[in-house]
Amino acid sequence: MKIIRAKDYYDMSRKAANIISAQVIMKPNAVLGLATGGTPVGTYKQLIEWYNKGDIDFSSVTTINLDEYRGLPRDHEQSYWYFMHENFFNFVNVQEENIFVPDGANPDSEAACKAYDQVIHKAGGIDLQLLGIGTDGHIGFNEPGSAFELETHCVDLTDETIKSNQRFFGEGEEVPKQAYTMGIKTIMQARKVLMVANGEDKAEILKKAFEGPVTPAVQASILQMHPDFTLVADEAALSLLDL
Ligand code: GLP
Repeated sequence: MKIIRAKDYYDMSRKAANIISAQVIMKPNAVLGLATGGTPVGTYKQLIEWYNKGDIDFSSVTTINLDEYRGLPRDHEQSYWYFMHENFFNFVNVQEENIFVPDGANPDSEAACKAYDQVIHKAGGIDLQLLGIGTDGHIGFNEPGSAFELETHCVDLTDETIKSNQRFFGEGEEVPKQAYTMGIKTIMQARKVLMVANGEDKAEILKKAFEGPVTPAVQASILQMHPDFTLVADEAALSLLDL
């Protein structure tokens, strides 16, 4: 694995956006695996800026998002479909038919997850997977203890995840308790994996994930075994690592 130290959130976002740009320049019809959460928003902002300058073209790119809340339709303001449009897709030229997010509105979890695996396989797999990390080490919505062998599946969110994602929901609005997520197997099959992390809140989990043992208890730790994994993190998030 490669660790790239960034000065701060802005620097982390620009470095990550540079890596994604390079991927799209090298392969204009790249398949990008995308992530939600607060961390990648700055990366998307930077990519939008470069798109507006004419430096990057997403017209042939396919995007496949990591996860979606089960029970939220696309037009729900807290759905990840909505989030991705508000923070990225509405501002660049990714073709709508090339955008994929698990179908949170499909109550049949088996069918929804199987259909999503088919989308990924049909696209030829993911060239570059962008990831954030939850404070319990989750990637996508793969919560501690999940089997590393899983492809897209339905998960019960942990109390820690529900609590930490409450900030995106309005007061009194309930965070869904389940989600559809790409599994660790899916993520590990991506040809390149890029994680962004910032702030001292992430320092402890980065230490565990990347300087501790590979264990399902810390899902992100499996990335130590990925042949092309890059972590771009700011100084606060890297503060506990020995490096
Ligand atoms: C959610 C997403 C993850 C994301 C995590 C961390 O749980 N499913 O993909 O990595 O939040 O979010 P943040 O970047 O806001 O810390």
